[in-house]
Amino acid sequence: MKKLITEEQIKKRLKELGAEITTDYRGTVPVFIGVLKGVLFFLPDLLRNINLTMELDFVVISFYHGKRKPRMLILEREIETDIKDRHVILVDDILDTGNTLDLLIDNVNRKGAKDISICVLLQKEKEREVNITPAYVGFKIPDKFVIGYGLDFEERFRNLPFIGVLEENS
Ligand code: IMP
Ligand code: MG
Repeated sequence: MKKLITEEQIKKRLKELGAEITTDYRGTVPVFIGVLKGVLFFLPDLLRNINLTMELDFVVISFYHGKRKPRMLILEREIETDIKDRHVILVDDILDTGNTLDLLIDNVNRKGAKDISICVLLQKEKEREVNITPAYVGFKIPDKFVIGYGLDFEERFRNLPFIGVLEENS
């Protein structure tokens, strides 16, 4: 396993992101919606750097492991907050194919949000299946499988305080 982003780098970047969001949403009460479980550390750490009155909610999105549609995504926990006419910020750990956020954007749109912006800790530099443009990106990373700081491989390694690249020979 190779370290890609250190704890210190994450801390520093979240201060910058928090300041940016604070400026952009000044005078509003945005609703943050995090995708579990990947935002386990990212979202609370980010929120501590945001100086706004805000609301928080979570969704759970996972793969449906059926036989016929093995890659179908399902929303397992719905948004409870009334987001009609609200400024919504969707927060995920990593933007990979774009399918997860696409599903969530669609859901939030149907509930009548005033506007939606996307915030991700990591963005893989690759061609995406769905075109998603996040307003806030912590770090752009190469198209490798990463773990730590909330990100898992088969549910493990979420507790690493840094982001690492999982290599086959380590
Ligand atoms: P997408 O729907 O393909 O954009 O992927 C988003 C979700 O896939 C993330 O919320 C992660 O849970 C998971 N994911 C994608 N790439 C990685 C990775 O490199 N490490 C760990 N999880 C990942
Ligand atoms: Mg996830």
